[in-house]
Amino acid sequence: MQTDQPASSVPTQSEGDGNLSPRRQAWANAHLDDSTRDLLARDARVFLHQSLSTPCLNALAGSDGIHLEDLQGRRIMDFHGNSVHQVGHGHPRVLAAIREQLDVLPFCPRRYTNRPAVELAERLTELAPGDLDKVLFAPGGTSAIGMALKLARYATGRHKTVSMWDSFHGASLDAISIGGEALFRKDVGPLLPGTEHIPPPTRGRCHFNCSDAAHTGCTDYLDYVLGVQGDVAAVIAEPMRWTTVELPPPGYWRRVREICDRHGALLILDEIPSALGRTGKMFVCEHFDVVPDMLVIGKGLGGGVFPMAALIVRSDLDIAGDRALGHYTHEKSAVGCAAALATLDCLEEDGLMDNAASLGVLALKHLAEMAKRHPLIDDVRGLGLHLGIALSRNGEPAADAADAVLYHSLARNLSYKVGGGNVLTLSPPLTIDEDHLMAALDIVEEGIVEQEREA
Ligand SMILES: Cc1ncc(COP(=O)(O)O)c(C=O)c1O
Repeated sequence: MQTDQPASSVPTQSEGDGNLSPRRQAWANAHLDDSTRDLLARDARVFLHQSLSTPCLNALAGSDGIHLEDLQGRRIMDFHGNSVHQVGHGHPRVLAAIREQLDVLPFCPRRYTNRPAVELAERLTELAPGDLDKVLFAPGGTSAIGMALKLARYATGRHKTVSMWDSFHGASLDAISIGGEALFRKDVGPLLPGTEHIPPPTRGRCHFNCSDAAHTGCTDYLDYVLGVQGDVAAVIAEPMRWTTVELPPPGYWRRVREICDRHGALLILDEIPSALGRTGKMFVCEHFDVVPDMLVIGKGLGGGVFPMAALIVRSDLDIAGDRALGHYTHEKSAVGCAAALATLDCLEEDGLMDNAASLGVLALKHLAEMAKRHPLIDDVRGLGLHLGIALSRNGEPAADAADAVLYHSLARNLSYKVGGGNVLTLSPPLTIDEDHLMAALDIVEEGIVEQEREA
């Protein structure tokens, strides 16, 4: 196992769990054989090191359904999946669509279109709420965010944006400018001008100490910022903060929508990790009674196989015909679009959104019971099959305990991510059944019990 990576001065406790925790080394010593260590060492020698991604935890040989399989044949329940795994890994229908399309049109040069691309665009506009009727594809979520930012500038003649501290919208320079995490923004030099930020309306812990359920202080501040600036092109945010599983206050997005409209700012919602059924609905904004001007999706759109993302906007925003928005080499991949069409079929025909909704309710009930039994659990929350367990000790976020529970789970072949330092985030494939889901929650509970015993 490679250990010579310099420790970053920025704690890796924002977007994901730390790769440099001492428990990581202990876990590797206990669980990895020589062949795996050798591959990890070769990986560390040849790849650039970066926070969150390196050093790698383990090496994979395969995946199917809800499982990853490592080189030693361990089958690991994947409750992380980088949010691409709504239909599970290697869904047969997705793979068949990809194979079929690969034989027919493996690449579509720009200037041409193809049947799967048009069908996917039509399908997404039918599914998207309200008047979101025009689409542009991109080979990744970050690129789609960049297209949204450019379109907002062209459409409004303004360049400023308002986004949220602590948010994540991708790792490119434009995306980290609107993002709000120090890990991505620190030491990198000048970011995009005009990228203003506001505090997120985190329930119970917001910057303005809002005491009302609607977080009026938070929305009033947005109103104030848009008012004093007077020239903001767009407000951009995740409809719910994904990494830490934070649901918005009731009525929040309706009020934001009204404020944006009053100040002539567009509303862009980033549903890259969250759309496509995980919450029990196709799009997260449908839970919160708001239709944005632009919706950005990605991640699982390519069925967990292909990099695919999409910007879906109101048709009257189709105003940049003589300028470049995306212009990406793989912008109309017939293979990616075939994967996406098959993914949408699986979501709809296999009842995966209903499964997410019903199992989500069950899991949240189970977690609420767990919270009663365990003082280490500060809060449990979730929507559909995206669940969060926040750990705290003496009123402080218990990052060390979260790290310990994670490695306890990994040792029992359950993988998930720790968000924000102390939130265990559980995001299984939507194909999961109740038995596997409950088995995973039992593993997490055992880890929590162990931590409480050791405290
Ligand atoms: C909310 C959000 N926006 C944007 C992105 C960037 O997507 P990608 O990594 O596919 O470029 C992510 C990725 O995790 C995300 O979670």
